[in-house]
Amino acid sequence: MGRTNEPPRLPEGSFAAWSRDRLAVARRGADECGDVWQLEPGVYVAAAAGPCEAVLRRAHDFPKAPSPLFPPPKRSSGAPTPEERAHAHAARMRGLRPQEVAARVGEIAPRTARFVDEWPTDQDVEILPPVRHALAEIGVRYLFSEDAPALLPLAAQLFLAREVLVRPSRWAWPRWIPTPARRFRTRQQVAFTDALRPIVRRRRSSGRLGDDMLGQMLRPSSRYGLLPEEAVLDTLPAITVATFETPSRAAGWILLHLARHPEAAGRVAAEAALLPADPAATTGTHLDGLRYTQALVREVLRLYPPSWLLTRRATRETQLAGYTIDAGSTVLVCPYTAQRDPREHAEPDRFRPERWLDDADSPAKPGAFLSFGTGPHGCEGAALAMAMLTLLTAQTARRYDVSEPSGPEPGYQVATFEGLATVGLRLRATLRS
Ligand code: HEM
Repeated sequence: MGRTNEPPRLPEGSFAAWSRDRLAVARRGADECGDVWQLEPGVYVAAAAGPCEAVLRRAHDFPKAPSPLFPPPKRSSGAPTPEERAHAHAARMRGLRPQEVAARVGEIAPRTARFVDEWPTDQDVEILPPVRHALAEIGVRYLFSEDAPALLPLAAQLFLAREVLVRPSRWAWPRWIPTPARRFRTRQQVAFTDALRPIVRRRRSSGRLGDDMLGQMLRPSSRYGLLPEEAVLDTLPAITVATFETPSRAAGWILLHLARHPEAAGRVAAEAALLPADPAATTGTHLDGLRYTQALVREVLRLYPPSWLLTRRATRETQLAGYTIDAGSTVLVCPYTAQRDPREHAEPDRFRPERWLDDADSPAKPGAFLSFGTGPHGCEGAALAMAMLTLLTAQTARRYDVSEPSGPEPGYQVATFEGLATVGLRLRATLRS
């Protein structure tokens, strides 16, 4: 039955085109259909800042499906009220607050510096694996301090399990079927949790809870009290992977932009010259001083948001930007098109870090920047991600000129399925003259 206020659709066949080139179809949908459009019956795309923000903020109408990697908070008895859920969530995420991150910049900077030191110069190097390793070391250390070495190899396995699971497959197996990939993931999660449980118990029984993210989780919060052990154990596998999975995708795009925009890289290098020679002496104030570098990171995230498509489901029939959205339908939120909208950003496809230093594109403008999401499920790790990426960018540019391999072929492929990424990215570092 046709309705008058149904969002417009691209012509037939767009779903097949979607499987071939999702970014191109997302752009066509936004250009030809407008702010909200339909990919197929029951699958809507929010393509502009306003509707994207509305979907992410209206979590009652458009809830996020609980991910097997991010199970909802549990309490020992009874179903939690929404308020309890919010307090439990806040209690678990305390260690990621900006002030906590700022206090630990002196631990993060030496590890990003080590990545820079170890980058073999004057040769084309596949750079994402070492970036991922460096960020995983930082992330796992941030969460577990001196307990990190025991957990780092298991974190790498967790990442692998997730990669296998999100790989596109011809069959959409029902959620309850234990496919080999799902069994592998479950085994890795169990292995991680089994290694973590004695650490949690030891810290609790000794009273030495630690000052890291785990230590923060183990302290009672004023609003929630003490988190049950299982709530701590259930959350940490996903948080562990989150500390390096998306950030390493972002780092790929950033390093590529350093290679493609030598002037911008030069400006970053000049700013980075003010960092202390000993990376361990770097503080939150030094980080705040890297204003252009932060703007560059933000600009790359605007153009290439690693989480370029977020999924929600409409719980009931509702309105979005004047259109009727059916109950049970899927709503895809697309920061990628929203952030390339000329109504939000002048010359939206141009890489221009300065825009974040001007007043016009102020980060406070609602909806102008959605790479970290927004609303109740917005990214909890944004401060940590910005700290790691800004330091990595500044230290790289200070030491090297980065370049792409010569030749007609790009040194990477754009992946869109498991996040927007530069798969196989090869880059060359030459000592800056
Ligand atoms: C450049 C790096 C990163 C980007 C672009 C990014 C992006 C995002 C986005 C878009 C969301 C919202 C997902 C949705 O609404 O469906 C999200 C959620 C989240 N991110 Fe990040 N993230 C990054 C780094 C991190 C880091 C370092 C952590 C640290 C642990 C982290 C932890 C989380 C958590 C816990 C959530 C879930 C919040 C919830 O569901 O309530 N992220 N991230």
